[in-house]
Formats: sequence, C-alpha cells, structure tokens
Amino acid sequence: MIVTTAQLFKHAYGKYAVGAYNINNAEQAMGLFKGCIQSQAPFIIQISKGARKYTDKRMLEAIIRSAGEIFPEAIFAVHLDHGDEQTCYECIDSGFFSSVMIDASHESFDQNVAISKRVVDRAHAKGISVEAELGMLGGVEEDIKVEEGHAMLTNPEEAKDFVAKTGCDSLACAIGTSHGAFKFKGKQSLHFDVLEKIKALLPGFPLVMHGSSSVPQDEVARINAAGGKIAGSMGVDVNEYLPAAKRGVTKVNIDTDGRLVWTRVHREYFRDNPGDFDFRPAGKIFIEEYAKFIASRNVLLGSANQLADLRKSLGK
Ligand code: G3H
Ligand code: 13P
Ligand code: ZN
Repeated sequence: MIVTTAQLFKHAYGKYAVGAYNINNAEQAMGLFKGCIQSQAPFIIQISKGARKYTDKRMLEAIIRSAGEIFPEAIFAVHLDHGDEQTCYECIDSGFFSSVMIDASHESFDQNVAISKRVVDRAHAKGISVEAELGMLGGVEEDIKVEEGHAMLTNPEEAKDFVAKTGCDSLACAIGTSHGAFKFKGKQSLHFDVLEKIKALLPGFPLVMHGSSSVPQDEVARINAAGGKIAGSMGVDVNEYLPAAKRGVTKVNIDTDGRLVWTRVHREYFRDNPGDFDFRPAGKIFIEEYAKFIASRNVLLGSANQLADLRKSLGK
C-alpha cells in the first residue's frame, strides 16, 4: 500500500525513523521489499533523478508497482529524492509518487523559499507530501558537488522561518553528514546540538537526515579483498540513528550502503567464479544480502515490527 511520507511520519515521530532507501533496478526493489517484510517495517522508496534516467523513468515505476503486488503487506511511500522544480512537477503529475523532495538548498534563502513554496502548492493540491532542504550537505549529489568547507549546517531560526513560509511537510537539515562513502576524516561528528535547537523551535515537525549510510568497514574490507580500491571511507555510526529519531528525525536516507552490498557480492562472486558470465546467480545472492542488510537497518532505526501498529493507526 502506497501512503504519503506525512502519514508515515505521523506514526514515527519521536519514536523511530523510517528508512528511506534509493533504488535503481529490479534486484534492489526485490531486496528492499523482502527486507522490509522480513523485519515488518514501513519504508520509503527513493528515486533520484539519476535513477529515473538510468533505464527509463517508467521502468522503475512499473517495477515498484509490481513489487507492491508481490508484497501486498508492504506499507511504503514513493518519494523523489533531490528533485529540481521541473522534476518535482513531473512526479507530482505522474500520479504515482506520494512524496517529492524539492532541493533548492544551493539557492539563496529567499529563492529556496519561493521555489519550495511553489512545489508545496502544486503537491498539496494533489495530496502529495513535500520534503524541502535548508543548509548544505558536503559530498556529491547528482550534478551538484559541494566542496568540503562549503557545506553549511542548518540555521535553526531560519529553519523555523522556512517551514512557516513554505508549508513543507518535512525538512532535510544539514547536521554534519554528507553523501557518499567518505563522510568524515578522523572522528565522525553529528551536530545533535543543532538538531536539538531545530526541534525546540519546530516541536513535532518531521526532520530528515540525508547522507546516513554507515559505510560498514567489514563490507569495504571484503570489497578491497576482492579487487576493489576504496580507501579512507567512513560513515555515520549506526548507534546515532535512534538518538536522532528521538530528536525529531523521522526519515533516514541510505543509498551508499546498498551500493557497497552490491559491489561486495558481485566482486566476490566473479572472483570466485572466474569462468561464469551469467549474472543471475550473483543477482540472486545480492537480493538476499540486500534484504538482510535492509532488515538490519530497520532494526537499528526502530522501524522494525511497526507495520501492524501503523496499519491499525491508518485504519486499514
Ligand atoms: O543523494 C544522492 C543519492 O545517493 C542518489 O544518488 O543521484 O547517484 O542516484 P544518485
Ligand atoms: P548516503 O550517501 O549516505 O547513502 O546518503 C543517501 C542520501 O542522502 C540520499 O538522498
Ligand atoms: Zn540526499
């Protein structure tokens, strides 16, 4: 069942965070649905602009529709990740997305407000939720690369003003994370002080944490042992997920970790089976491994075993 992110956040707020996982293909979709059913967790499927372009934007929609039929128990939102204004409108008009993210965080505050407000008005007219972003994460995000030192933590007073002016349903805040596998040098550091100030000024308002992959070091070691060359990687401590949820974070974005699972499975498979050229055996292993990974993340986010209660609260 497809629901809006606003519906998911109402149930989660202050108790747990909903995992928001990016998908690009059928194997990821299968692993994601399996893992969420195994762990009895609601979830958010994120589609980036890059994912829409990877094959054909209609392909992913069809895959998700089919997965919803294969796993009728699943409760999830279909969300556009890091949309620009035009892509938000396309997704709002598609009749398939239940949530969009307008990311105008690289614009001035006033421009960000104006763009986000236009998207909110169009989306709300169709009952679709909107996530907006204020502050700037470091790292690479589609065509935009934020250099280290230019990343900007969210200003709590501005966050309050921004939400009042735009009417958005949730806000992505920059609190020290970044996209990709190289988030911190030395020690990892999330700015819970900033999060607490935002929560105090916006009580009950759903916050979003991007760049939340944990970049498991055992995964990276296995990739490197199978021919990879990933050096200096570091992710978010998974023990920070629940403390973030208690401080108003209702959505935790995880993409990079899924890519690491894919890379480890495929590197190891073809290293161990050098004569093989059928991609399906490796694909099957990936689906199971990804499902396991997703279920483990849902436990850490506190979203595991929330499905029955959520269904009841939705009156379904
Ligand atoms: O924030 C970026 C997400 O990890 C999506 O990545 O744009 O390469 O699909 P992508
Ligand atoms: P990671 O790169 O940490 O997985 O972050 C993903 C993300 O924020 C997608 O919007
Ligand atoms: Zn992101």
